[in-house]
Amino acid sequence: MSLENINPTTTSAWRKLSEHYNQTKGQQLKDLFEKDPKRATAFTRQWNDFLLDFSKNRITNNTLELLLELADDVKLADAITKYFEGDSINETEGRAVLHTALRAGKDEVILVDGVNVVPEVYEVRNHIREFSESVISGEKKGYTGKTITDVVNIGIGGSDLGPVMVTEALKYYKNHLRTHFVSNIDGDHVQEILKELNPETTLFIIVSKTFTTQETLTNALTIKEWFLQKASVADIVHHFAAVSTNTEKIAEFGIAPENVFPMWDWVGGRFSLWSAVGLSVALAIGPQHFEELLEGAHEMDTHFKTAEFKDNIPVLMGLLSIWYNNFYKAETEAIIPYTQYLSRFSAYFQQGIMESNGKSTDRNGKPVTYQTGTIIWGEPGTNAQHAFFQLIHQGTKLIPADFIGFKRSLYGNTDHHQKLMANFFAQTEALMNGKTANEVREELLAKGMEEKAIKKLVPFKVFEGNKPTNTLLIDKLTPASLGALIALYEHKIFVQGVLWNIFSYDQWGVELGKQLATTTLKDIEGSEISNHDTSTLQLLQYFKK
Ligand code: F6P
Repeated sequence: MSLENINPTTTSAWRKLSEHYNQTKGQQLKDLFEKDPKRATAFTRQWNDFLLDFSKNRITNNTLELLLELADDVKLADAITKYFEGDSINETEGRAVLHTALRAGKDEVILVDGVNVVPEVYEVRNHIREFSESVISGEKKGYTGKTITDVVNIGIGGSDLGPVMVTEALKYYKNHLRTHFVSNIDGDHVQEILKELNPETTLFIIVSKTFTTQETLTNALTIKEWFLQKASVADIVHHFAAVSTNTEKIAEFGIAPENVFPMWDWVGGRFSLWSAVGLSVALAIGPQHFEELLEGAHEMDTHFKTAEFKDNIPVLMGLLSIWYNNFYKAETEAIIPYTQYLSRFSAYFQQGIMESNGKSTDRNGKPVTYQTGTIIWGEPGTNAQHAFFQLIHQGTKLIPADFIGFKRSLYGNTDHHQKLMANFFAQTEALMNGKTANEVREELLAKGMEEKAIKKLVPFKVFEGNKPTNTLLIDKLTPASLGALIALYEHKIFVQGVLWNIFSYDQWGVELGKQLATTTLKDIEGSEISNHDTSTLQLLQYFKK
């Protein structure tokens, strides 16, 4: 069954939220905390080793109640059931959305067209385990009998970003295999990677759900040619593996059947790292850790599916984001992890969130009359503090931010970790409290500055404050906690797509550029240039000179 089709702005909760927004928009977080000594605990939720403190948001109990009412008005509970049960909720592509089945329990039954997909999922999970164990142990050899030392993932978008992000995030758990990622069609990208590699000891994994993506196929062919400069066609079977739904095309490439990992069309590219798309992750950190990643995600799935909305972390985070996006008109959201390991986390969710919810057509096929998909960005703290935090603190835009931190560091360097976390806590406090003109004056007076100079400087040193943040404090960065964290944001995407009455699981918006690039390539390769606007024409002529 498809998702309900409810324009959120026509619900009574939306109307009430609009009124509530008008009445409360001037409220100051500082005052809310002063008025209610229990505010911090009232707006904190604990789940497993996660703690979400969302008290530093411009909300009251009433706001939360109305947001929860909105979730009911758009029938979020019913949508969640359809999502997990494999209904065809990716309507424009006629598919189910079942990345959750990739991490389901072995005994669960999840039907797609009447067939339980869980056994097939476990077959592939076993294959991933066996394959990666044989590479890691050195049992699987290259064409000259040497053990494999390097693994190259060839893919783009969802076939790259997840593996890149997770291998970086779980670097601490990594084994001896060196992992590399070739994604861009930019030939310099592939050359820079190839120059570090020895064909005798490198395993290449071609990852493409469709096996038609220009970037991936071009890179794979370039790499194959490079490989064949030293090795023979018969050696390909020892060095190439592939992950795809398109098994025919894989066979044409010459990949041995035992190195082929299937995918399913009910898994979206940007949600596919839990499938064999994560093979490079399993190779890098070992299959046991890969399984733990999946188990962590599965636990978050269970929480999302079963927790009451008022305690449901993905639901709460999704609703808060709607509050800022649709009522405060905030256009962007920052994700700031306080660990260098998560340096690719925001980039990963730029695809996850913006490819999913960057839509302007509702489920009726009509243009939406309200804002959808937020713009996502961010970098790890404390680096981010020395880069763009100025704008969050004193700029003109409202930027709700998620701060993600860990109670324990992995190598246990207490001095560094305490300093890191001091910054983590200080920033959300500073963003909320700001600094008044009086406080600035006092500070400058205490430093012995003269009155005239103080007067001149005060306006520049004032911090308005009242900037909203969520604090997500997790015990430790482990494969399981990372799995749960990724799943949390995946479900937040779902919640928001349901609320905005859009289809989150297609990506037609990336097609036009791809189509035009095909004609433009002909113009570049051929002797004549076809019809273009005068700007593009002029640029092509200049490029070809
Ligand atoms: O950029 C569009 C897109 O279709 C993404 O959704 C996908 O992750 C990526 O291209 C790669 O696609 P494929 O895995 O089929 O090569």
